[in-house]
Amino acid sequence: MSFFIENLELNKAAKALLNDENDTVANLANLASLIHFKFEAHWTGFYLVNNESKELILGPFQGPIACTRIGFAKGVCGKSWEQKKSLYVPNVHEFEGHIACSSLTNSELVIPLIDQNGVVKAILDIDSIHFNAFTNEQILELEELAENASKHIFS
Ligand code: SME
Repeated sequence: MSFFIENLELNKAAKALLNDENDTVANLANLASLIHFKFEAHWTGFYLVNNESKELILGPFQGPIACTRIGFAKGVCGKSWEQKKSLYVPNVHEFEGHIACSSLTNSELVIPLIDQNGVVKAILDIDSIHFNAFTNEQILELEELAENASKHIFS
């Protein structure tokens, strides 16, 4: 990993990216890239909530092609949407109903982006080829990023 990425202060960088931009797609695209390369992830992206179809629909991401729609309460992402909380899965093969967009994924962290009314607007999904890929400190750091991003993008 480059010196720059390794020593990047994630949330300072995220705030700097969001600061001058109000376009949702552009902001989600840059956040996906920032997270992806910071954590050397296999797949990093956002699923956006569609309340009409009651599905998560694929948004900006980094990594291999992915499933485009996930039903409410389906998979790790759909369960995070249903429960309105982060879900960390150290071994995806032990998660009943896991949706394997890539057979190379072994652990996964998903975090909801919730607006000021308590409504889930999107899901951040980070997949790793490694088992148990995220520390508690990293999870808290990413939850802080998701909270700040939600305030900026969905307020
Ligand atoms: N694994 C996710 C599906 C999204 S792909 O990983 C990008 C899930 O079970 O919800």
